[in-house]
Amino acid sequence: MAKRTSLHGLWSSRMAFILAVSGSAVGLGNIWKFPYVAGANGGGAFVLFYLLCVALIGLPIMMAEILIGRRGRRNPVATMRIVGEEEGSRPSWALVGIMGVIAGIIILSFYSVIAGWSLSYIAHAALNRFEGADADLVNGLFGGMLGNWKVLAFWHTLFMIITVWVVARGVERGLERAVRFLMPSLAVLMVALLGYAIINGDFRAGAAFLLEPDFSKLTGEAMLAALGQAFFSLSIGMGAIMAYGAYLPEGTSITNTSISVVIADTAMALLAGLAIFPIVFAHAMDPAAGPGLIFQTLPLAFGNMVGGHLFGTLFFVLLTFAAWTSSIGLIEPAVAWSVETHGRSRAAAATVIGVIIWALGFLTILSFNEFEHIKLFGRTLFENLDHLSSNIMLPLGGLFITVFAGWVMCKNSTAEELDLGTGTAYRLWRFLARWVAPAAVLLVFLHATGLLHFFGITTS
Ligand code: TRP
Repeated sequence: MAKRTSLHGLWSSRMAFILAVSGSAVGLGNIWKFPYVAGANGGGAFVLFYLLCVALIGLPIMMAEILIGRRGRRNPVATMRIVGEEEGSRPSWALVGIMGVIAGIIILSFYSVIAGWSLSYIAHAALNRFEGADADLVNGLFGGMLGNWKVLAFWHTLFMIITVWVVARGVERGLERAVRFLMPSLAVLMVALLGYAIINGDFRAGAAFLLEPDFSKLTGEAMLAALGQAFFSLSIGMGAIMAYGAYLPEGTSITNTSISVVIADTAMALLAGLAIFPIVFAHAMDPAAGPGLIFQTLPLAFGNMVGGHLFGTLFFVLLTFAAWTSSIGLIEPAVAWSVETHGRSRAAAATVIGVIIWALGFLTILSFNEFEHIKLFGRTLFENLDHLSSNIMLPLGGLFITVFAGWVMCKNSTAEELDLGTGTAYRLWRFLARWVAPAAVLLVFLHATGLLHFFGITTS
């Protein structure tokens, strides 16, 4: 069969692709979200289950997304339709792409607000406001920011502007190139923070909390949170990686690329956790403090270390950068889809979608102040948006993607794309994609809703 070619050119090298995918994967999910979600769900057992999800569900689904993307070579909506028809199935597989577009919009609406926190902390750090910080000072800074919706709106707006600006000009590839030295810099900074935590924090307590599983804390909700976190952190389940796969040259190994990205992403999350919890315990703070966790702990470290002024500023600059390269991946499916279906220019599409996301962001902003007490299903508006997108839409999208790659696409097609021959490695992928990943996602869904219990299946 004649191969389709991408409308937008191809990545110049395997390295460029790895950088683009890891730029989208490594972001607030690793450094902001992983520690606080792990903390809120009891630590060790959550982390272990998270690692299982990453290896058994995340990796095969990332491979599936890339291979589907490279086969379709269009935006995720068109790709799912084209490849679906080509494999003798229905055009309605496009709906998976559409759900991904919507998930990306919802995620970016709160992601941008948190990236705004990081922006504002660049300012705090640069003005040396953490100097000699104690818990009161840090809580005051954080609470002061959170309580004032205008402050949050200001930074959220600024972050959306820089995101839309880059996407509108189509200079993502330039930004991906920046990933080449920014990401390693962020990793070096995290290692240095880990060093600080080992020397000055309660490393024993922090490491024990994060690594020693207490399975009584692994509730259905915690398992669902771990599953959602795996999807969120790896950027899978919404077609973003599929869109990047569309530009991947033939002959580049999808397997090796995916493994590298998964390892880098997971290492960053664990590093962040190991650096943060020793500080949490040394200051008798609450590991389950929620989304403010890194903003309430890291300034304590920066404020009391030698060179913390520079170090802290650099850290929040790099964190904002990591968020920036991720936010581009979140908006890209929507922009590409809008350009292709409405014939808009890139700039117009990015602006229209950016404004929608910006407006939606106010639901998150107000959840921390004016609407703090408005709860739906026992969650604030922000928590509902996060739960719906991360824990439901991404795993559901991933379920459809893996079923598509494992059951709808014929063996020849996937074997050809993965280029693993038909040996053990290919068979292992196919087994994971057909059976393990779909079953695991379904089981976690059922368990979290209490339905497993309803069917008389009990877990400890
Ligand atoms: N992985 C990103 C992070 O950890 C967030 C994210 C979720 C994302 N889904 C995505 C980024 C899709 C790009 C594309 O911060």
